[in-house]
Amino acid sequence: MAKYYLAPMEGITTYIFRNAYHKYFRKMDKYYTPFFVPHSKRGLNLKEQEEILPAHNAGLFVVPQILSNNGNDCVQTIEKLKRYGYEEINLNFGCPSRTVASKYRGSGFLAKTEELDRFLDTVFSNEKDVKISVKTRLGRDEPEEFERILSIYNQYPLEELIIHPRVQKDYYMHEVRLSWYAYAEGHSRHSLCYNGELNTVKNIQEMQQRFPQTDCWMIGRGMIANPGLLMELEAEKLKNEKKIQSYGGFSIEKERMAAFLQDICIHYEEASPKEIYVLFKMKEIWTYLMRYYPDHLEKIRKIKKTQTIEEYKREVQEIFTLLR
Ligand SMILES: Cc1cc2nc3c(=O)[nH]c(=O)nc-3n(C[C@H](O)[C@H](O)[C@H](O)COP(=O)(O)O)c2cc1C
Repeated sequence: MAKYYLAPMEGITTYIFRNAYHKYFRKMDKYYTPFFVPHSKRGLNLKEQEEILPAHNAGLFVVPQILSNNGNDCVQTIEKLKRYGYEEINLNFGCPSRTVASKYRGSGFLAKTEELDRFLDTVFSNEKDVKISVKTRLGRDEPEEFERILSIYNQYPLEELIIHPRVQKDYYMHEVRLSWYAYAEGHSRHSLCYNGELNTVKNIQEMQQRFPQTDCWMIGRGMIANPGLLMELEAEKLKNEKKIQSYGGFSIEKERMAAFLQDICIHYEEASPKEIYVLFKMKEIWTYLMRYYPDHLEKIRKIKKTQTIEEYKREVQEIFTLLR
């Protein structure tokens, strides 16, 4: 059975978003937190604690993610996370952001293969009782760098290797380099998870046909744009197995979407007294939902211009009244 993971997305896939998604849509097999940057001199800050408190993640399989290029700092942070009961930790070698990569972190760290090797050596020598997975790009500048990088990953007992087959310099622009994902399938000793541009049922089905050896699929933006994506995929599968005679296609019921968004908004309001913060969070989600409601772009632009929560809620209500 294929497994599906919700990709970490800084600022978006927060514990509030994850819980609402889990309540209203097809449950994910794993949820990854946006990255934590280790601080050697202090404990986890309030925002980080909120993100990983067991009470905020009850019933979800959550994997905290760390962004670091310093083995000792990373080990310290893993120790802190273990105290909260986490059994699996993910290391981020994928972030393409210029500010991150220029400090040789995220996908920028892939340009320093000796340091990467030493980093993993420190982490795996110190951490024997926790599962460690890696989320990676192919390299910093050229995909050929992946040959060396993969040979390094192959030396360590990774729980899983999640590959976003682009290099740092591609950001999200260059098309995914699928021949390099095929290379990974042929040369990795780890179980692989594919990530990148799984935006529609058709994309997912095509990728599953092309890479039948892979049974883990991590989805990011496609899932924010269409939280019903996996329900649609399952409905499509049932139809193909001829278990459904008349099938008119799947779409998220407006009541479900409205309740999901309301749940997120209420929890952000509870978490922060700052109206501007709550508005920012909600508008960010609507930026992705524009793809799901292409016939309502004007209305969504109005939502994005709102200045108060009251105004925001009024506009959202209006859009759901219009929807069939
Ligand atoms: C706004 C945003 C924030 C992201 N934050 C993270 C992060 O914290 N950690 C990480 O590993 N990847 C992060 N990513 C990358 C995603 O996890 C994912 O690899 C990328 O979006 C490609 O997958 P997709 O095409 O399914 O969206 C982020 C991407 C976006 C667009």
